[in-house]
Formats: sequence, C-alpha cells, structure tokens
Amino acid sequence: MLKFTSFSDVENLNDLIQEALNIKRNPLQFQSLGKNKTLGLVFLNPSLRTRLSTEKAALNLGMHVIIINVNQESWAWEIRDGAVMNGTKVEHIKDAAAVISQYCDLVGIRCFPSLTNREEDYNEQLLNQFITYCSVPVISLESATRHPLQSFADLLTITENWHRPERPKVLLTWAPHIKPLPQAVANSFSEWMRHAEVDFIITHPRGYELHPDFTTGTKICYNQEEGLQKADFVYVKNWSSYHEYGKIVPANDTEWLLNKEKLAVTNNAKIMHCLPVRRNVELIDELIDGENSIILQQSHNRLFAAQGIIKKMLEQILTTS
Ligand code: CP
Repeated sequence: MLKFTSFSDVENLNDLIQEALNIKRNPLQFQSLGKNKTLGLVFLNPSLRTRLSTEKAALNLGMHVIIINVNQESWAWEIRDGAVMNGTKVEHIKDAAAVISQYCDLVGIRCFPSLTNREEDYNEQLLNQFITYCSVPVISLESATRHPLQSFADLLTITENWHRPERPKVLLTWAPHIKPLPQAVANSFSEWMRHAEVDFIITHPRGYELHPDFTTGTKICYNQEEGLQKADFVYVKNWSSYHEYGKIVPANDTEWLLNKEKLAVTNNAKIMHCLPVRRNVELIDELIDGENSIILQQSHNRLFAAQGIIKKMLEQILTTS
C-alpha cells in the first residue's frame, strides 16, 4: 500500500481487519519496523483523535513523528497553478509538498472541504495536488470527501461487537447540527459499509442526499422510524447538503434528534458517533453515555486502524527501498 486516501486503496479488507485486531492484542509487537523512519502529519484543520491516534500509532511502530499545523505554525498555501502570489498566500503547495517529502518517509494530511465550491471539493483539489508534488506515500487524515481512517476504525468496532452468523443491520442516520458540516464521514462510512459484510441503510431528511458515487445500491429511507426498525448499529452523524452545496436545508430539523423511545424499535442497537459531538444538539447525553454506546471504542480503534495502515505502508516502503 503506497497511498491510503479511500477504500479503493485497500487490497484485502479482511486481511486489513485481522491485521488491526492483531495489533490491538499487542500494539508494540512491530516496534522495530519503523526504526529510523519519519512520519510527517500535516494539518490544515483542527483535530484531536486523528492527530493523537496517528502519532501514537507511529510511535508504537518505532517511528519519529513531525507535526505541522499549516496556517498557524507555517505559511499559508497557494494551490492555484500559475498564481501570481501577491496576496495572503505565502508558499505554493508544490514547494511545501516537495520540501516535506525531503524530511519524511510517509506523510499524512488533513484538508477539509471549502463547502463553497463543490467541484473543487469533490475533485479533491488540495489532496491531489499534495499527492502530485509529494515524493513519498500519503495517508489521508480526512479530506474534502472522505475520512478513511475513521471508517476503518468504525468497521473494526462493528466487527468486535457482532458475534452472530447473519449480517448486522447498520443504519447511518442524519442528525441535527447548528453548523454546516462536511459530508466526508458519511460518504466514507457509506463507501466502507457497502464493501463490508453488513446490511447497510441510510436515513436522512429530503435534501441531504449524498453524492451518488457513495450511495448507489444503498437503501435510502426518508423516514427515520422506518430506518431504525431492527437496526443492530445506529451511526449518528450530521452532514450538510450535497445538492444545495454546504447548506443546511431548508432548516435544521431537530425532529431527527434520537432518543431512547425512538430506539425501542431497534435490536437494542449499539450507538456510534465519530466525535467530536455537540452534546444535546446532535446526540443526547443519555445515548452518548448510555450502556449501548460504543463511541469511545470507536475512538480507541482509531489507534489500531492507523497502526494497521502505517504498518502496511512501511512494509511496502521497506520492500521497495
Ligand atoms: N473523528 C475525528 O476525526 O476526530 P478529530 O477531528 O478530532 O480528529
């Protein structure tokens, strides 16, 4: 694996899941693999889980880690080819990516969407430019349209919580929020669930349809109560509209906030959320802190998802060097 930006970079899903679960049993067993190798983590947006879990994963593999918060600690990046850089952008991404590659063996980058220019966001303009000018393998730490490390951790968590022969019913439900959020987590979760051994369904109000690339073949239900019927896992997440790009449409629908009564029609479903969560806006305290919540297990599994991916990439780097 020399790139990890979407599900399409996974060669063998079952092998990857087993790798991460094996690492979880003994996280330090491959501590010599990353000796004298450096992971660079480039953040253009804030992070708690992704930053700490990826750093810890690299340390568990014996790597050095360099972290840079672009815009705060470094120069703001220009991404337009041929730009006359007489404004506020001080460094071109092609120079920044080339320089970072000189110091690192592997680089992770977080770059959220603008939510104003759908074409640029869905072309992954910044991520793809960075990859183009980077001469070392790149891991997405969440891009404009996907969050693959999160989705991998989510799948690990579902795997750990399912011990029956039939496929679990996994529901992704839209939830209210006060701000327009990216579609990346929902897109990515849908992409991974479509390849997993689960029956996957999405429920959201009309107007919140995701890009069809992520949902073709997936059952979409506009009635949350119907979607919740017999669900084994309920993944709660807000996202803004794809069609009225980056908007909350037509107004924030607080009727979609879950409660215990609504969940009565599920199969005693486990509750999932990627965090951060705005408590009592997107999901209520009672469910976040309740006995069916596996939210902290998801965040714990971010570590083993990251370690599994970095290990695969290190092995490839060592084979080809
Ligand atoms: N879930 C997630 O990616 O969290 P952070 O934004 O804190 O990294």
